Amino acid sequence: MIYIKTKKELDYIRESCKITAETLQLLKRYVKVGITTQELDQIAEDYMKSNNSVSASKGYSQGGSSIDYPAAICISVDNEVVHGIPGNRVLKNGEIVSMDVSVQKNGYFGDSAISVAVGEISAEKQKLMDVTEKSLYLGIEQAIEGNRIHDISYAVQNYVEANGFSVVRDLCGHGVGKYLHEEPAIPNFGKKGTGPKLKNGMTIAIEPMVNMGKYNVKTGYDGWTILTIDGLPSAHFEHTILVSNGKPEILTVC
Ligand code: MF3
Ligand code: CO
Repeated sequence: MIYIKTKKELDYIRESCKITAETLQLLKRYVKVGITTQELDQIAEDYMKSNNSVSASKGYSQGGSSIDYPAAICISVDNEVVHGIPGNRVLKNGEIVSMDVSVQKNGYFGDSAISVAVGEISAEKQKLMDVTEKSLYLGIEQAIEGNRIHDISYAVQNYVEANGFSVVRDLCGHGVGKYLHEEPAIPNFGKKGTGPKLKNGMTIAIEPMVNMGKYNVKTGYDGWTILTIDGLPSAHFEHTILVSNGKPEILTVC
């Protein structure tokens, strides 16, 4: 079922989304050669705590055999697409680091992600990040009342592939707000004019995951980290969006 959020629910969702965005802005300032992903995770967790909120990722269960997600945020470096677990990995010059933050406060959720360069990166990696971010905004532009979900999907895919990159097929964006993951699924590929209709009051997370090489991915030995099959880098940008007065409003801003 796709939830249409009430005004009251939207106030709570806005608050969680604001903390989500602030956490990412804070993290961005700390991304430097030499910092560990665990240190970034701690900064994020402390910030959430100081805002009377908690990580929606920590303790998240995807079912199956893997452990519950053990960290406050997801940090995925280079060929790691999403759901990388922070640890003692030290960030190196030339890497791309993707940070995915999901926050819960008062029982409501926000979800957003950015990819950031560590030091100086290659022109190709810069293009990968730019194309991924732009594809997110092109997807967001399609979140208009009366459009369909795959209008978003198509816009993302079309732009990414025109630029020679590929969209990950195995993971999708999603409804968000009352739960971290709600219906509808929002794939980053699809056919215009298909899928559920967008309506005012829907809150959705649009999140293109874009690979420099092939779109195929696999799960790492930790049971969580999603990696590119070909070992080439990947980028990830995500915002939580509200369809409001017929138009998209980005909630994960500060
Ligand atoms: N924010 C991530 C997403 O929407 C999910 C985080 S849950 C985790 O895909 F357990 F994977 F961290
Ligand atoms: Co998400």
